[in-house]
Amino acid sequence: MRSDIPLFPPNASTMAVHVDHFYLFMWAVTFVFSIGIAVALVYFAVAYRRRHRDERPGEIHGSLLLELVWSIIPLLLTVVMFVWSTWLFFAQARVPDDAIRVNVVGKRWMWKLQHMTGHREINELHVPVGKPVHLVLTSEDVIHSFFVPAFRMKKDAVPGRYNETWFTATQPGRYHLFCAEYCGTEHSRMIGSVHVMESAEFQQWLAGGPAPVSPVALGRKLFTERMCVTCHYGDSGARGPALNGLPGSKVALLGGGSAVADDTYLRESILTPAAKVVAGYQPVMPTYAGQLGEEDVAALIAFIKSLPPLAGDAASRKASDLRSN
Ligand code: CUA
Repeated sequence: MRSDIPLFPPNASTMAVHVDHFYLFMWAVTFVFSIGIAVALVYFAVAYRRRHRDERPGEIHGSLLLELVWSIIPLLLTVVMFVWSTWLFFAQARVPDDAIRVNVVGKRWMWKLQHMTGHREINELHVPVGKPVHLVLTSEDVIHSFFVPAFRMKKDAVPGRYNETWFTATQPGRYHLFCAEYCGTEHSRMIGSVHVMESAEFQQWLAGGPAPVSPVALGRKLFTERMCVTCHYGDSGARGPALNGLPGSKVALLGGGSAVADDTYLRESILTPAAKVVAGYQPVMPTYAGQLGEEDVAALIAFIKSLPPLAGDAASRKASDLRSN
């Protein structure tokens, strides 16, 4: 919040001011109660001290009013904390639809970032001001945590899964990026910066340097090279299910149950395909764990997402039902 208070990092995202207000509220409640309790403690110790050897205080038989007061006030305060923090939590968890996506891979001891245009960065992230940026994080080894104090944003990068968060930067400038999860010897050096640029400047940055290979293009290449295409060629008689239109859909699984084909599901199905086999197929796909890096997996997912839905998809599925009967 206020940049005039030196204890606060700069305030450079749309969420920062909300987080600060909540933080100040929590701080004020804690402060008022701590001071109140400390003062009461000293006052009571002095006012009700034993004045002579055989002094006996009168018995206390309880007070309904007092019980109500010290139950209802904390209840109200905690309800406010709960509702307020839940609102903040959901605001930070819900990624705006128009956000630009950046894949983040934590690795001892660096941050590898890739834009959907294909631009790669290490320990640096360039983003345009005023545009929501959607971060999808994972790790190649241990847990790291992507922390940008100026955005009041922190999200763990956990091996084996994707975590998501977002921010909209409000002020052009350069901001600290830290790893906020102890990850080994050089944890303290796993730092970098986020460069927030005016839109035109950002476009210029994108245009500079050699033309990068987009994740979709890399994914398309891997899809052929790694022989994915031999089974997933989109015909209903193929050994693997068609991938067109798969992302985001609900998939029936072999042996009952279902799964939503989100990024985490796609990743698992590439690396350890036997974990969730699609109903109607055999668990014949080889495992790619240890053969594909996180960036390759992200590229394959980007490629799968870029596939257009098959025309007459429902019809071809029906045909395959007939064939298997
Ligand atoms: Cu990565 Cu600490």
